[in-house]
Amino acid sequence: MGDTTENLFDELTRSEKRQLTHGVTDPDQRATGYIPPIERLDIPALKVVDGPLGVRIPGESSTAFPAPLALAATFDTDLASEYGEALGRETRGKDQDVLLAPGMNLLRVPQNGRNFEYFSEDPVHAGTFAASVVAGIESMDVIATPKHYLANNQETQRAAIDVQVGERALRELYLPAFHDAIEAGAGSVMTAYNTVNGTRMSDHRYLLREVLKGEWDFAGFTVSDWFGTEDAAAAANGGLDVEMPGISREEMVASMDAEGEGPEDSDGGTEAPTDVGDDEGFELPEELQGGMADAATCERYAETLEALVESGEVPAERLDDMAERVLGEMERHNMFDADRKAGAVDTEAHRDIAERVAARGTVLLQNDGVLPLADDDDVALIGPNVEETILGGGGSSETSPIVETDPVEGISARAAGTVTVEHGLPRVEGISLVDMLTGNFEDDEPEGEVNIEAGTDAAANADVAVVFARDVATEAMDRESLALPDRQNDLIEAVAEVTDRTVVVLNTSGPVETPWRADVAAIVQNWYPGQAHGDAIAAVLYGDRDPAGRLPVTFAPEGSYPTADERRFPGVDGKAHYDEGVFVGYRHFDAADDEPTFPFGHGHSYADFEYVDATLDGDTLDVTVENVADRTGTEVVQAYVRPPAVDGIDRPKRELAGFAAVDLAPGDRETVTIDLDDRAFARYDDEAGWTVDPGEYVIGVARSSRDVRLEVATDR
Ligand code: BGC
Repeated sequence: MGDTTENLFDELTRSEKRQLTHGVTDPDQRATGYIPPIERLDIPALKVVDGPLGVRIPGESSTAFPAPLALAATFDTDLASEYGEALGRETRGKDQDVLLAPGMNLLRVPQNGRNFEYFSEDPVHAGTFAASVVAGIESMDVIATPKHYLANNQETQRAAIDVQVGERALRELYLPAFHDAIEAGAGSVMTAYNTVNGTRMSDHRYLLREVLKGEWDFAGFTVSDWFGTEDAAAAANGGLDVEMPGISREEMVASMDAEGEGPEDSDGGTEAPTDVGDDEGFELPEELQGGMADAATCERYAETLEALVESGEVPAERLDDMAERVLGEMERHNMFDADRKAGAVDTEAHRDIAERVAARGTVLLQNDGVLPLADDDDVALIGPNVEETILGGGGSSETSPIVETDPVEGISARAAGTVTVEHGLPRVEGISLVDMLTGNFEDDEPEGEVNIEAGTDAAANADVAVVFARDVATEAMDRESLALPDRQNDLIEAVAEVTDRTVVVLNTSGPVETPWRADVAAIVQNWYPGQAHGDAIAAVLYGDRDPAGRLPVTFAPEGSYPTADERRFPGVDGKAHYDEGVFVGYRHFDAADDEPTFPFGHGHSYADFEYVDATLDGDTLDVTVENVADRTGTEVVQAYVRPPAVDGIDRPKRELAGFAAVDLAPGDRETVTIDLDDRAFARYDDEAGWTVDPGEYVIGVARSSRDVRLEVATDR
């Protein structure tokens, strides 16, 4: 406990301690969650805000950063620190204290509606990015909130689903990235809506008290996902410190609607309300039922906690611990100091980060030489959404930028040749969860009409056709399939028939199927790129920037993923069985000897690299790479470990142990260092815990999980 916390703590009444454990309505109607001030003791309010792609405050704008999945595709952790710091600075710039980010669930299910908010199908990769983003956010005196702890790997029935998962998969796949985020200093952790092995995550004594606060020494506070508590006593005793949002769904929706009236008598003073009203009469839109927590059955600390302490059902020391954790993090992040770091929104530097991440995370999936485009190419830009900036998916991560460029604007500004534009199809509408919740959701007739011929005419008359395609993803629902929605595949196929110089740019939340890939010249995975969409994609298409991105998730036919079985996803009788154990993502495709369409770690550069040498000294791997092309490029060196065979133990054929990105001018050679730690060699044994089996381990130095260039062996 810091000095301030210790001194303040002695002064707090029981009801003031309780007040620190839950949200009330923000009198300014800006924060996503709001713990009121205790003015008597000069304890300021704690203002909590979404989210992972930028700060979301209803009716206000901020920098709309690329989706975290695009960031992870950069494989560049320096960029991740910059991104985190920018998020933190914007949070302070909006006078908020806690950012509900990073989202970091593992990409177990390729259709997950929130994959764009997360990092990776691999725990080392996810953990590295989570740690960099957390440290960046916290460097600005803002509390980061890794979420959603734990195993919130699908949106279908997310508030009800029981995840049946074994200890080994928890330890090897689902826990490590959260551990990395804690080690990086995260001050808060959000619990997931789902249950794990029968226990609701907000009440999960084993995962909250034993693992997180026990084994990992987490000294910060846990916070529920919004309306995610059902049993206040079980939550308090299980290890949940803060319950959010503490108000009714109706009140929350009113405050989300920037145009709306909002609640009339919100109270930001020292006497926080203990009667939050009820949600009777508030109906979720049908599309969202099952995907959202039921606010009507949510048990709030405001109404229950003091009585529970009074009756002894929750020990008084537990309430002390909850309040202490909140105050402790406020102190650690300088919230009692006059010289706490100041923030800023929409700075030149933030615009630049948004653009650099969007470009650098772009993955060149295939290229027969059509890219980079020549400056004077006549270009046909085709696609239903080609005049739209793809900011992100629907839900609590929605952002609203101050400046933005769409593909037509970005490419027109860069092109020296003629640019023609055809939509070919009606606009593919994204889903705005916020609109749905606030009732602004109407099933409009889509804008535009089917006119594929206009697209093919434009393509036939240009030097190059660039077709932009998008998917639709949102929180609270999973994607129906990995196919591009509406008739976008037909449009691509039709264009590819009239020109062999077709480039497809994918703006998607995760993997999609590419049935036309043999007929097109290039495919560029551009994710949800945020406000700099147009400028970033133009820079990559024209070769001003190398496509340095690599896949953080395997692309394969829908039926070949390990979750392509309803018992596993979306689950049967309310249970999702993680029967695949540790064989998620590339671990599965390797074990099944199944060739993915585009493997984990894959991505071409416009340059070419030779892997010259690899040496291992203790745990330090040195790899020398040379750029053998005549242009500057970025290589991402990846190290995968192949363990020795041990009788009776099924281990993945190779597992990512580390990676390093390096920019190289033509002819330049550089040695990058990747540190391998014990975790790179260990497996989790249900009885013995972390175990390094004796024997020979082979380190594959690789361009992707399927493209190993050099090998070094080591005995352990
Ligand atoms: C989401 C969280 C988000 C919270 C507050 C929930 O629906 O799952 O990620 O931070 O709402 O908006």
